[in-house]
Parts: sequence; structure tokens; C-alpha cells
Amino acid sequence: MRMETAEQYVESLYAEDRDLANVKQGIRDHGMPEISVPPGYGRLLTLLARLSGGGAALEIGALGGYSGICILRGLRQDGKLISLELEQKHAEVAHKHIREAGMGDQAEFRVGEALDSLQQLFAEGHKFDFIFIDADKGNYPNYLEWAIKLSHSGSVITGDNVLMHGKSMNPQHSGPAVAAMRSFNRQIAEDPRLDSTLLPAYDGLAVAVVK
Ligand code: SAH
Ligand code: DHB
Ligand code: MG
Repeated sequence: MRMETAEQYVESLYAEDRDLANVKQGIRDHGMPEISVPPGYGRLLTLLARLSGGGAALEIGALGGYSGICILRGLRQDGKLISLELEQKHAEVAHKHIREAGMGDQAEFRVGEALDSLQQLFAEGHKFDFIFIDADKGNYPNYLEWAIKLSHSGSVITGDNVLMHGKSMNPQHSGPAVAAMRSFNRQIAEDPRLDSTLLPAYDGLAVAVVK
């Protein structure tokens, strides 16, 4: 098998994963977008969720439950994931896939605009050990502010697609979503409340720990 990229070489070392293959099939069957987090970052979400303490996790953007399953795998038996999703259908499909992976009782879905749900979670007094941002890119700076508010010292905050297929680093691209992602990336790098790195593999992943 010819390896085109470092990502493909690394993928080839891992066996196929039944629960995650089930998610990918379900997403295709439902005609949903095939934009789940890539396998290498899915594995990293599991590790980071575990290293964060693995109690309470928050995900912004559920889609078909791929990242949800990866995060849940890192949680303790008594750990819980709250997943925010705009589309009722996506939330239902994601929950079904998570149930099929045997972790349905540990996942709660809140359907609607994530910004509204985040406000609600804050009002309810939630704090999270691990947060994954992966919804509409134009709101990433807002999601980061909410993520920090919903964190404690030591919480891990992650964000997918920070390269936006290279648009983030190409000055010929403008527009609100790209501008928002550049602002998010700069804040991840500079915010005095965070220790961080930006991983450039795949479409880029932000990883930060709240000081
Ligand atoms: N994290 C998923 C992929 C998420 S794709 C995975 O890797 O498995 C992005 C998701 O965010 C889509 O399901 C989309 O419906 C949802 N979304 C988009 N805008 C949103 C918003 N304003 N609030 C909540 N969810 C949103
Ligand atoms: C795309 C990929 C993603 O992981 C995402 O969250 C949103 C969009 C994309 O490739 O268009
Ligand atoms: Mg993504």
C-alpha cells in the first residue's frame, strides 16, 4: 500500500475500529456530512479526556457521535459527556451510535444554538474537565470564552479545524469564518489564562490547558 501522507502511514498502524466504522456508515446512510474528526485526533481526544481527569466533558458539535465516542472512551465509569448540537437529527443519530457503542447512559444531548446552551450550562453551574470545540467556525472565539468560563484550573480545551484547509494561513482568504479562526488561534497562542499548542497535522487541532 502506497503511503501518500504521514497521517496515512500512522493510520495504517491501527486496526479498524468497529464502533467508529459504525458511525461512519450511519453518517453516510443518513446523508449527513462526512466531516467527523480524523482517527488520529479521535485517539488524541480519548487520551486528553482521560488525562483531564475524565469526569465531566463537553462537546460543541455532535454530528454522528464519532468524537463523542472517542471522548467517552477517555471518561471514568461515572464520567458524563454533554454534547451540544444545532440539528435534532444529528443529535438523534449521534445518540444512537453512542448507545450502540455501549455508552448511551453517559451522554446527554442539548439541541439548539450552542451559544444558548452554553449560557444555560453556565447558569446551571457546570464545570468541565474536558471541552472539545467543533461546530460553526465563525463562533470559535465565542466558544473559547465560554469554554474558559466553564473550566477550572487544569481543564483541557481542544478545537478542531484550526487550519481550515489552509485558509487560516493564506492571506488571500478572508471572510468572517476565516477571520474568526485566525482570532481563535491567536488567542489560543497568547491568552495568559492558557498553556497551549496548535497541532498542524490533518486540519489542525488546538490543545490548551487552563492555568
Ligand atoms: N464533532 C463531530 C463533528 C462535528 S461537525 C465529530 O467529530 O464527530 C459540526 C456539527 O456542528 C454539525 O453537526 C452541525 O450541525 C453542528 N453545528 C453547527 N452550527 C452549530 C451551532 N450554532 N450550534 C450547535 N451546533 C452547531
Ligand atoms: C469541515 C471539517 C470539519 O471537521 C468540520 O468540523 C467542519 C467542516 C470541512 O472539511 O468542511
Ligand atoms: Mg471538525
